[in-house]
Amino acid sequence: MRIIGTGSALPKKIVTNEDLSKFLDTSDEWITTRTGIKQRHVVSDETLEDMGAEAALKALEMAGKRPEDIDLFICSNVLGEYITPSLACIISEKIGLKCGCFDINCACPGFLFALDIAESYYKAGKTKNCLIVCADEPTRMCDWNDRSTCVLFGDGAGAAVLTEGDNVKATKINCQPAVSKLWQKRVPEPTPYVTKVEQNVPLQMMGRDVFKFAVSASTTEVVDLLSSIGKSKSDVDYYVVHQANMRIIDAIKNFLGEPDSKFPTNIADHGNSSSASCAILLDECNRKGLFKKGDLLVFSAFGAGLLSAAAILEW
Ligand code: COA
Repeated sequence: MRIIGTGSALPKKIVTNEDLSKFLDTSDEWITTRTGIKQRHVVSDETLEDMGAEAALKALEMAGKRPEDIDLFICSNVLGEYITPSLACIISEKIGLKCGCFDINCACPGFLFALDIAESYYKAGKTKNCLIVCADEPTRMCDWNDRSTCVLFGDGAGAAVLTEGDNVKATKINCQPAVSKLWQKRVPEPTPYVTKVEQNVPLQMMGRDVFKFAVSASTTEVVDLLSSIGKSKSDVDYYVVHQANMRIIDAIKNFLGEPDSKFPTNIADHGNSSSASCAILLDECNRKGLFKKGDLLVFSAFGAGLLSAAAILEW
């Protein structure tokens, strides 16, 4: 397939590190040096579906497509307001999509899992125009008294419209199952038959383990995927890497021995917006005109699962 339109939407409320320091035992200095994050967009009165719909409409407009042109809609999100129907159905109703649609819950690499699915549907002859929306609000998954998690995240939505083409050169999805490293639990309704007393648990993370997993999964996958299509680092123009932590991005960059200029980032302004992260970064770079026709882009993302994925696109 080929990406012909991108879009994104952000909550209006911006929370700086100084804002967090007013009610948490933390500091701008700690957050900046450990993560590279200076501020994040945080949902207040916006809904996930509003942001997802806005990002989708912007991507459709850039692509020159109408909602009725889309024949497959994949929506990536972790925590939606509705258990059922899917966020994909809710956004479809909002913007007038009429095709088959579904949610995927693949945490931070969700955009790359969606790309992988879209490309597979395309190769099977089952889609010509596909919409991907990644909409996440991880700030509503954290305990805002837990300084080790809530400082890391921001909210938002990113979207892409894909059509027929030969620009997705390779995709790969992976899992190294390790639930205890990064998880959140929401308890279903009680019944007369469930005797266990359960409670909702906000996002829990073993930060150092996730950090190590992210660097090792990303570097291995990028090198392997490039070699699978007979390319090497020197062929790559840009790396669009999940914006989780600047130190993770730096470690990947150092391992690959690639220059800063190949790694666009927005983590300082957004924090980690889960699956929306890569999609928002892609849209920002696209709208700035960073990518030129023929550029080779390598995507890499990682998160709860522990899941990871990589993709290579010719722009
Ligand atoms: N402000 C101030 N101090 C904080 C803090 C905060 N927001 N969060 C944790 N600390 C403290 C810890 O309590 C600890 O104190 P102690 O030494 O007295 O026990 C100290 O800082 C060091 O904590 P540690 O967890 O070892 O720090 P770290 O260097 O590993 O950095 C992360 C923590 C979370 C920033 C880092 O592990 C990380 O980024 N991991 C990856 C997380 C991620 O990206 N997850 C999402 C992937 S999709």
